[in-house]
Formats: sequence, structure tokens, C-alpha cells
Amino acid sequence: MKTVLITGCSSGFGLETAKYFLDRNWNVVATMRTPKEEILPRSEHLRVLPLDITNAKSISNLIDAAGPIDVLVNNAGIGWLNALEGTSMELARDIFETNTIGTMAMTQAVLPQFRQREQGVIVNITSSVTLKPLHLLSVYTASKAAVNAFAEVLALELEPFNIRVRIVLPGRAPDTRFGETAQSRTKDAGGFPDAYAELVQGVFASWAQQPSAGITRSADVAEAVWRAATDPSCPPHLAAGADALALSAKS
Ligand SMILES: NC(=O)c1ccc[n+]([C@@H]2O[C@H](COP(=O)([O-])OP(=O)(O)OC[C@H]3O[C@@H](n4cnc5c(N)ncnc54)[C@H](OP(=O)(O)O)[C@@H]3O)[C@@H](O)[C@H]2O)c1
Repeated sequence: MKTVLITGCSSGFGLETAKYFLDRNWNVVATMRTPKEEILPRSEHLRVLPLDITNAKSISNLIDAAGPIDVLVNNAGIGWLNALEGTSMELARDIFETNTIGTMAMTQAVLPQFRQREQGVIVNITSSVTLKPLHLLSVYTASKAAVNAFAEVLALELEPFNIRVRIVLPGRAPDTRFGETAQSRTKDAGGFPDAYAELVQGVFASWAQQPSAGITRSADVAEAVWRAATDPSCPPHLAAGADALALSAKS
């Protein structure tokens, strides 16, 4: 029986992906900053372990506790919506520390076992915002585009060891906690600069007009991760969700 380790399972895509793999009889190591076993179905195939991907000790403890794994899903991430002028460099570093460096650190941590066994799959959740520039997302998009570039080069480096690297690009998913958390982060950091008020209004208005059929659901992402993890012929980049698929067809 194969084992998947997923980061950021406390909500949203990570939680849905953990359920998806459990339903298909995989062993699942569902990691969370604050473990909450009760949010997942009881299963002898499930382990819920603590992990903060920005903390080296937390990563090494997790790798020791998890044992051998077959697939790593780098899902944990944080959002940020603001003009660059409303973004302190401290905040920009936080975004990169989680979305970019955290992904690299987790990947590095599983590589020795993947390389020794000459098998393994790394699935990185980035975003469809990397397919088309969108207002107020310069720093967030940069943090995810860096992961795309990282993953593309890493795939070449790991090919001789039979390790696959995949990228899943979800579209906008208002059902997860992501938008709400990003908005409260923006508020805590002082909000949007006044000079960008009109632009901000336009962004929120365009989201309100987005038809519900044109958004991404957590189930779309779980399905795409499953395909990326299990289908060796899956393309290296996989859009997930109606809006992401439409963007990807244009790009
Ligand atoms: N929702 C969207 O519109 C959207 C679109 C495209 C891509 N994405 C990407 O998809 C991924 C999942 O997002 P989501 O929509 O499911 O959002 P979510 O519901 O907010 O889930 C994010 C998860 O990441 C975890 N996390 C944050 N910082 C972490 C850290 N330092 N260490 C470990 N875990 C950490 C959160 O844990 P806590 O509960 O501890 O905070 C949470 O479990 C993210 O990488 C996001 O960038 C989201």
C-alpha cells in the first residue's frame, strides 16, 4: 500500500486531498501546524502529524515520524493580496518563506529516501495566477512562479533517479479559508494604500461577477493531485478547476 504525505491538511485543498487518497486506500500522513484528527475520517490508514514547513526542526521531526513515503504533496501555502507599496519586505519574506522556501525544504527532506529507492513523486500546488498577471498579486504570484521554475529544473535533476516532479495549478477557490486568511493578513498589515482604492474595488467587483461555474473547487484539486501522483503519463503542469483550465488553454 502506497503512502502520501500532504502538507497543510487543516483545511481546503489539503484536507480534501487527504480524504481523496484515504478513500482510495492509500496510507495518508496528513500534516497540520496544529493537528486536529477529528476533521478527517477515522482510519487505520491515517496518521495526523504536526508540521510547520517554515521550521527546520519541525520538518526533521516529521520525516523521522512519518517513515517511508511514496508521494509528497507540497500544498501548504499562504495568500497575500496587496499592491507592492502596501507590502512590507518583512511580509514579502514571510510569503516566500512559506510558499517557496517551505516547499523547497520539504522537497529536500524527502529526497534521500526517494533517491535511495529510485522512486517517488513530488506534487507542488502552485496557482493559475502564474498563467496570467492579475492586479495586486505581484508578491504572491512571484512566490508561486518561483516554485514552478524550481520544480521544472528539479524534474530534470531527479529524472535519472526515477523521481517525478509535478505542478498542479488551481484557479480561484472561494470555498477554502485561503481568501479570508489573506484578507485578514492584509487588514492586520494596515490594509491597502489609499492610492490603490479604485483598483482594489475593481478587483473585488470582478470576483463578485465571476460565475460560480467558473471557479475552482477543492475536489478539482484533489483529483488533479491524484492524477499527478498516480499517472506517470500525466503532463508536468496540470490545471485544476474550470477557471484554471480555461486560462491554461489560452496560455
Ligand atoms: N484557494 C485558492 O483560491 C487558491 C488558488 C490557487 C492556489 N492555492 C494554493 O493552494 C494551497 C492550499 O490553499 P487552500 O485554498 O486550501 O487554503 P487554506 O484553506 O488556507 O489552507 C492552507 C493550508 O496551509 C497551511 N499552512 C500555512 N502555513 C503553513 C506552514 N508554515 N506550515 C504548515 N502548514 C501551513 C494552513 O494551516 P493553518 O491552518 O495552520 O494555517 C492550511 O492548512 C496553497 O498553497 C495556496 O497558495 C489556493
